[in-house]
Amino acid sequence: MSNESLANLLKEERRFAPPAGLAAKANVTAEAYEQAKADRLGFWAEQARRLSWATEPTETLDWSNPPFAKWFADGKLNVAYNCVDRHVENGLGDRVALHFEGEPGDTRTITYAELQREVSKAANALTELGIQAGDRVAIYLPMIPEAVVSMLACARIGAPHSLVFGGFSADALATRINDADARVVITADGGYRRGKPSALKPAVDEALTRPGTEKVRSVLVVRRTGQEGVAWTEGRDVWWHDLVDRQSDQHTPQAFDAEHPLFILYTSGTTGKPKGILHTSGGYLTQTSYTHHAVFDLKPETDVFWCTADVGWVTGHSYIVYGPLSNGATEVLYEGTPDTPHQGRWWEIVQKYGVTTLYTAPTAIRAAMKWGDDIPAKFDLSSLRILGSVGEPINPEAWVWYRKHIGADTTPVVDTWWQTETGGIMISPLPGVTETKPGSAQVPLPGIAATVVDDDAHEVPNGSGGYLVLTEPWPSMLRTIWGDDQRYIDTYWSRFEGRYFAGDGAKKDDDGDIWLLGRVDDVMLVSGHNISTTEVESALVSHPSIAEAAVVGANDPQTTQAICAFVILRGSADAAQTDEAALVEELRAHVAKQLGPIAKPKRILPVAELPKTRSGKIMRRLLRDVAENRTLGDVTTLTDSSVMDLIQAKLPSAP
Ligand code: WT7
Repeated sequence: MSNESLANLLKEERRFAPPAGLAAKANVTAEAYEQAKADRLGFWAEQARRLSWATEPTETLDWSNPPFAKWFADGKLNVAYNCVDRHVENGLGDRVALHFEGEPGDTRTITYAELQREVSKAANALTELGIQAGDRVAIYLPMIPEAVVSMLACARIGAPHSLVFGGFSADALATRINDADARVVITADGGYRRGKPSALKPAVDEALTRPGTEKVRSVLVVRRTGQEGVAWTEGRDVWWHDLVDRQSDQHTPQAFDAEHPLFILYTSGTTGKPKGILHTSGGYLTQTSYTHHAVFDLKPETDVFWCTADVGWVTGHSYIVYGPLSNGATEVLYEGTPDTPHQGRWWEIVQKYGVTTLYTAPTAIRAAMKWGDDIPAKFDLSSLRILGSVGEPINPEAWVWYRKHIGADTTPVVDTWWQTETGGIMISPLPGVTETKPGSAQVPLPGIAATVVDDDAHEVPNGSGGYLVLTEPWPSMLRTIWGDDQRYIDTYWSRFEGRYFAGDGAKKDDDGDIWLLGRVDDVMLVSGHNISTTEVESALVSHPSIAEAAVVGANDPQTTQAICAFVILRGSADAAQTDEAALVEELRAHVAKQLGPIAKPKRILPVAELPKTRSGKIMRRLLRDVAENRTLGDVTTLTDSSVMDLIQAKLPSAP
């Protein structure tokens, strides 16, 4: 990325100081940065002492064979014991671990003492199914308590789990079962989705007809929806309530090496087969625990934490299961969609449980913006004290909306940058320390080393753009790609010698704060200028009529690429039936004013929906296909493939 992109940097002048009350009692203060700077490894060794170790580690980092890291290698611990049993032993058995809210409105309250019994029973059940330490277990479940229980049961017996998001197809499931060589699959008859039961078991049955899945001995099935006619393979399938319920609720956790594999989680990426990202135990739990404590300022006695992600994504692993539970948090676990049965469902849940800390994704915030300010206004959201965002760059306007309409214009918003590969949060403001800037993830956390470099790996000066790299190993880093060490080296450690390349474009502003600019594959080249899709999208979203925007560079004979934008109008603008052609002209002028004429989109198309992956990221690749009048590529990871028909129908046949 050349420094030319500088000309187009979005200017964001708004600043928000931490609330004084929060700052005065913050878990982590500015001192942590100093401490970690003076002795980075000593800092992480101290954070590792947040955990209960069966054998305390004496080594912190072994980096003798880069990029293969070992953290706390001579320590031993049990991850599930740290997330459950030790809280019970500390007299907190009656504390609520999970407030489960099913989509149809059914609820379950699970205390730490109950969680301990459930996890013990499930661990005994897996053992009865022949699972031993090191065997892999695939988990394909809706967002129900058994998902959390299953993960912890696996951790307890040292069997790495591999979660496959419940929205994925039989094919995707089969590929992942095969790659991880799983022996047991845990699933359910179905889950509730948009007001209806949605079956899961048939996808498992289909997946297990595919070659490479023969080693699956058992399928453990939770009855969630009670759907009729669940197909059954005798000798392989077993109901959870038949097997788990009759187990002893006593189970002695065994300690495993800090580097014992905890889980594999597949990330699809743009090319090739999915990568099985491997995370291990001690370092992963240290960083997820510390970051949850620091970034969300968790006060376990009084806070109610709610991360809206699915457990099938890394956000759910790290900030529903391992981080919060290791800290003894009380959490909300919600099964369904934000707009079932009405568009205020999330805000109703915040009110009902007194949620203090909400962690969600920009896509959800933009959807709420689109539905209208009046919806959250109907609920009492005054319990909220910290709001988090993750998954994509958050447009400054969506950030400000989130703070204003959800956070009563007082709560800090923490924009947290990280990846499946990093395991835990890496770049984020600290709510009691950092003066926040809408749209920027700002600073690496204490103990994390990140910067922005140019094509030649030189650190860029403040005010310049380039590539985001991590310059030192961190405790919750991926250890490899499952079964493919060479791909691990090639994918992450080859672009810049000795540094981890995250695949994201970023810039440093005049204060040295980091702004994420999207995946480097998404950066556009327009008449010799590099322009970030994220910045053009943010400029569009800063117009009062726009709720959401997706920008792509389409091949163009004159300018190499031409900027093509797809926009969703806000509820109010939509209703007013604005003159579309006039609005498009206004938007083009608006972007030119915000970013400079070079960034003015050649085409702007108002659409009803945008194509999103199941984790909520916009699939720009498909929009590029549309913009370049090509047949669409693979649409199987889309949440709703009919979206593309609607978009194509909007398009005049020739550009
Ligand atoms: C990619 C990783 C981390 C859990 C969810 C996604 C993008 C993530 C941010 C943010 C800008 C972000 C990056 C990153 N991303 N958080 N706060 N600001 N971009 O995990 O599916 O592995 O995706 O998500 O592009 O590389 P993932």
